[in-house]
Amino acid sequence: MKKVRVGVIGLGHNGTGWCRDYDKSDSAELVAVCDCDEQRLVAATEQFPSADGYSDYRILERDDIDAISVHTPDHLHAEPFIKALEAGKHVFVEKPMANSIEDLKLMAQAAGAAPGRKTMVGQVLRFNPHFAMVEKLVSDGHVGEIFYMEADYIHDLRGQQYMEQWKVDQEIPIVGGGVHQLDLLRWYAGDVVSVKAEQNHIAYKEMQTPTTQVALFSFESGAIAKVTALYGCIGARPPVCNMSIYGTKGTIRRNEIALDGMEEFLEMPYDYKGHPYSPQVAHLADCIINDREPLVPALEGAKSAQACLLAYEAATTGETIQVEPLV
Ligand SMILES: NC(=O)c1ccc[n+]([C@@H]2O[C@H](COP(=O)([O-])OP(=O)(O)OC[C@H]3O[C@@H](n4cnc5c(N)ncnc54)[C@H](O)[C@@H]3O)[C@@H](O)[C@H]2O)c1
Repeated sequence: MKKVRVGVIGLGHNGTGWCRDYDKSDSAELVAVCDCDEQRLVAATEQFPSADGYSDYRILERDDIDAISVHTPDHLHAEPFIKALEAGKHVFVEKPMANSIEDLKLMAQAAGAAPGRKTMVGQVLRFNPHFAMVEKLVSDGHVGEIFYMEADYIHDLRGQQYMEQWKVDQEIPIVGGGVHQLDLLRWYAGDVVSVKAEQNHIAYKEMQTPTTQVALFSFESGAIAKVTALYGCIGARPPVCNMSIYGTKGTIRRNEIALDGMEEFLEMPYDYKGHPYSPQVAHLADCIINDREPLVPALEGAKSAQACLLAYEAATTGETIQVEPLV
């Protein structure tokens, strides 16, 4: 296979950005686009003339498409993901993998039933050089045994109600936003076994879900982590990621590091330039062409979304919730 032939479903801001990166990729080729919104479909076929347009899942009947890329709203990922796998395609799906545990189970089962197909979840921060460097420092043992971590997703997202109504009605901050952070912490420290959480709805009341959510995750390793998601902060988000990792041999606090038992902090270059999709495009294509396992396959992405969904449940019920296997 010279280039992976891709069809994109969901042509909002995110899906169109992916179309752009598939279109200019050396290893992928954008051959079809799909959206049930006619205006968006027409705009995409004009912007990407090499792609044929579809208003429904007939895009999946095309034998010459290798991979489907799913960019529908959070609560509408499951159907196109599962149908694409059943049609024999490799599938990418944006984060959070789904917005309900039921959908995650169905998606994980569908991925398990299609072992020859690659699946990948868009946990974009794993492709950010800063967070990838932290993973290398942790896995090479410079931090020692992790005992505590904290990270947050703090944004002024009040304007998003003017973009897409589903973000106001359906998005859950600790899931839609917090999954970025929790997924990184799972990458560094392994699986979560239980979660407790609190929330309030003082800020940004137009959203359906409480907009301040704070979760405490317990990991199988014994580590604990606090993740905060809040969408109603006044002013822009902090300029560098608020993430700290505390281990028995080292500390990583934002862009400061003290490793291998040294107590003095050094500054780590912090080069955070938003969320480029092209490294994920290159990785997905490489995994399909060279038969490699994606960094975030379905079950891995599902576990991150599951822990965050359970955090929302824990905040709502006030209970500590144990994580059960999805499949
Ligand atoms: N990783 C990141 O950095 C990042 C950034 C932004 C958004 N996202 C994620 O990307 C996804 C899309 O976000 P967005 O902001 O582009 O949303 P959006 O609402 O702007 O776009 C979604 C599109 O999907 C279409 N759609 C819905 N159901 C469909 C169906 N069954 N078939 C075909 N088209 C359908 C809608 O008409 C809409 O055009 C979300 O899951 C979001 O959380 C990820």
